[in-house]
Amino acid sequence: MTDQRPGLELGLFMPNCSNMSSISTWRTVEDEWPYARNKAIALTAEAAGFSLLFPVSRWRGFGGETDYLGTSLETMTWASALLEATSRINIFSTVHVPVFNPVVVAKMGASLDHISGGRWGINIVSGWSREEFGMMGIELDEHGERYQRTAAFIEILRGLWSAPPRTFNHHSKWYDITNGVSLPQPPDMPKIANAGSSEDGKNLTARLCDWSFLSTPSLEATSAIVSDIKARAEAQQRSVRTAAFPFVLWRDSEDEAQAEIARIIEHKDAIAAQNWMDGASIESGSFDQFTLDMFTVGAGAVHVVGTAEQVANKLKLLYDGGLDAVLMVLQNFLGDTQAFERDIMPILRDMGVIAPTTGRQGAALT
Ligand SMILES: Cc1cc2nc3c(=O)[nH]c(=O)nc-3n(C[C@H](O)[C@H](O)[C@H](O)COP(=O)(O)O)c2cc1C
Repeated sequence: MTDQRPGLELGLFMPNCSNMSSISTWRTVEDEWPYARNKAIALTAEAAGFSLLFPVSRWRGFGGETDYLGTSLETMTWASALLEATSRINIFSTVHVPVFNPVVVAKMGASLDHISGGRWGINIVSGWSREEFGMMGIELDEHGERYQRTAAFIEILRGLWSAPPRTFNHHSKWYDITNGVSLPQPPDMPKIANAGSSEDGKNLTARLCDWSFLSTPSLEATSAIVSDIKARAEAQQRSVRTAAFPFVLWRDSEDEAQAEIARIIEHKDAIAAQNWMDGASIESGSFDQFTLDMFTVGAGAVHVVGTAEQVANKLKLLYDGGLDAVLMVLQNFLGDTQAFERDIMPILRDMGVIAPTTGRQGAALT
């Protein structure tokens, strides 16, 4: 960490959906999707000095033995409750463009911003599962058009949140807004993220978003992905922050950690994993470099596995490669968040990866 550069922001890719940790029947704790469990995890993460919580948005599961992600808490209502339960941590919702009218989302978002004192952010996803949207009678646009619509959606949000009331107009193939108004307006623009990994997705993020939530096949590949999105943003005279989602697991020895990974894979829900992987990468090729076994552990997360020391070093590698934040997937979210504070955060502090003040003594949240 340098004077100019803030430390790595710590976050969780929260289990608002069932079976969130891995596409496997192997578990060390009960499924953590119920709200009481999410609240306990959020409070624990906040107390430990984490700065970001982030949910998945899903409308149906992916079948197989686990019906992976089949039970889920809707993310606007989920964020509303968690923002009230917490006081410092930033919490995102994830919204599917084809499902919501942007005027409704502008109003819900401004309400959450108001309720939380500016701690709410939004991940705007174009959607990719034809089954999921087909269930609602919604046909997904062709991939490129999907991102044009997402751009229109973001422009409408920003317009309604900042233009003088009754002056905002937008007319496109998808939306007709005349003399648009949505009050209250947030005092500062809520942070907007996109998680697209295709050319269209990356260009949209660079042009219109504050955060890129990226997928990466390996630790080594991450810095090039980070540099690429940052360069695209710079070309637009903008800056974009980056977050990856690592699956983080550590044990006293590397062999024990790898044995646990082997157990997760041995119990994989192959049908659900294949359904997920096919749907997620069919158009963009985002996960082409993943094998089904890799994909099972953390559902597309990059693996950060070993002893506490090795895990800290791998997180340092991500930080040194330019990454701004991690949205961690954990095997046992509540217990592992507590253990992360005890086992890993002191090493990260000593290495200068997180600020010395990140933790219980004081918040260093950006
Ligand atoms: C960290 C992260 C979170 C994501 N969250 C969701 C989500 O909650 N719901 C969803 O439908 N897609 C989600 N996606 C999928 C992306 O929005 C996107 O569709 C996918 O990465 C494929 O990229 P592309 O649309 O650019 O082809 C997520 C992706 C990443 C990397």
